[in-house]
Amino acid sequence: MNNIILIGFMGSGKSTMGRYMEEYHKYKLIDTDEYIERWQSDSISNIFSTKGEAYFRELETECIKKLIDSKTENTVISVGGGLPIKSDNQKLLKELGKVVYLRAGVDTLVNRLMDDDKRPLLQGGDLRNKITELMAKRESTYETLADVIIDTDGCTTEQIFKSIEEKK
Ligand code: S3P
Repeated sequence: MNNIILIGFMGSGKSTMGRYMEEYHKYKLIDTDEYIERWQSDSISNIFSTKGEAYFRELETECIKKLIDSKTENTVISVGGGLPIKSDNQKLLKELGKVVYLRAGVDTLVNRLMDDDKRPLLQGGDLRNKITELMAKRESTYETLADVIIDTDGCTTEQIFKSIEEKK
């Protein structure tokens, strides 16, 4: 399938890039978090607090399966930061398109996520520690799964887009 799948940590710019590609470069856009919120008529935070993370992870897998079954093409698909971690999902993402990892350093992520109150996994406690610990668990999976890795620190959205187009 000829889609572009954007993976990366929370705050790495996946949603921003997806919206940019939709607005300026005629891609169709699907954001898995938004898809799940619409489908469930509920917010991610509320799903986490009422039904738990494991339930949310099942919804993520269902979401990716639905995109494959509905033969999604020519689309940029921005996926939640934890979605690629589940091994079942890795095979599905590869089937769905080219996997592009938007890599960002901890300083960048801390700056972007400092005032965030929408990501349940980052609420309470020291933000830098939380990001560092979660990143240590996830980074090698992101890198192994990616067909293309883009280092995004200090880059504009346009520069990152050009790198995606060159390397995809
Ligand atoms: C999560 C990332 C979030 C969202 C949920 C869990 C994660 O998406 O799916 O809060 O486990 O990294 P973004 O990566 O778009 O913030």
